[in-house]
Amino acid sequence: MSGPILVFGARGQVGREIVALAAARGLAVAGLSRADADITNETTVRVAIEVHRPAVVVNGAAYTSVDRAEREPEIAAAANVTGPAVLAAVCASTGVPFIHISCDYVFNGAKKSAYVESDRVAPISVYGRTKAEGEAKVRELCPRHVILRTSWIYGLHGQNFLRNVVKLAAERDELRMVVDQIGCPTAAIDIAEAVLAVARKLATEAKVSGIFHFAGTGATSRHGFAAEIVQRQAIFTGRTPKLAEIKMAEYPVAAKRPLNCELDSSRFRAAFGYSAAPWQHRVAEVVAALLAPAMAKKVAS
Ligand SMILES: NC(=O)c1ccc[n+]([C@@H]2O[C@H](COP(=O)([O-])OP(=O)(O)OC[C@H]3O[C@@H](n4cnc5c(N)ncnc54)[C@H](OP(=O)(O)O)[C@@H]3O)[C@@H](O)[C@H]2O)c1
Repeated sequence: MSGPILVFGARGQVGREIVALAAARGLAVAGLSRADADITNETTVRVAIEVHRPAVVVNGAAYTSVDRAEREPEIAAAANVTGPAVLAAVCASTGVPFIHISCDYVFNGAKKSAYVESDRVAPISVYGRTKAEGEAKVRELCPRHVILRTSWIYGLHGQNFLRNVVKLAAERDELRMVVDQIGCPTAAIDIAEAVLAVARKLATEAKVSGIFHFAGTGATSRHGFAAEIVQRQAIFTGRTPKLAEIKMAEYPVAAKRPLNCELDSSRFRAAFGYSAAPWQHRVAEVVAALLAPAMAKKVAS
């Protein structure tokens, strides 16, 4: 590549994995947190791109609080619509290809099978609407773009379902989990691999562009996801809390969520030659990475 991969939103769960993986591979990479560069500020973004002269720009920044977005739609739109529009416009004017990350919540969840890229977007929440509008801005403003739509991200860092379940399972004897929302749990590390595969191709081939779905291999319910986490956690803690089944309609949250979030990643696999590990494998790895150090400390003391 002719310059580094420049990652905005580098303190987020995906952003930090991209920077760490690229660095581990010996690739030139620079990560900018919100404190380094606010993506809604065109001058800041332009200066960052002039200073780093990247081969590819990646947007890992976003407003991701699905429920809070219902009461602060302008703040969500600034990060999820204005920010991607600024990045896309600056990338277009400087000739830098742009990778943007989007999500399953752009769909309404009514489809009976996995979503493909040509399915119509029909968001049912403020967050989903801002993500769909952000995608539209990227498509309109930057010809050399790849939009990666992903789903149910988890990893070692940040706010995510796996870490919440691990915490709750350590404290409670029973957890209530939704059985009728289906999706593809996706490890942040797999998204980092996918982004590097896209970056390689974008930096060398002029014709790559468009929307691609990329998610963990396999689908499950929130209940199934939690069951796998709890089972893996029990290896370390010996505790197995009961998992009660509830319906999404009984789950008291501000934002509506799509029931079917399953994404079909076959177009991505065909274009970029990479598919994520089966989601259960990554759950085992992440739970072990979270809990093994504490266990080792306990044994040693
Ligand atoms: N989380 C999921 O389950 C999920 C599922 C599907 C798709 N996605 C998408 O995947 C992408 C990555 O998500 P993630 O879970 O890694 O998000 P995350 O952990 O919430 O990180 C987002 C990062 O963006 C930063 N940010 C927010 N506004 C910014 C701004 N104006 N300028 C610069 N940085 C800003 C945040 O900084 P602060 O911490 O300072 O706010 C945070 O570090 C997002 O596009 C998200 O919509 C997420």
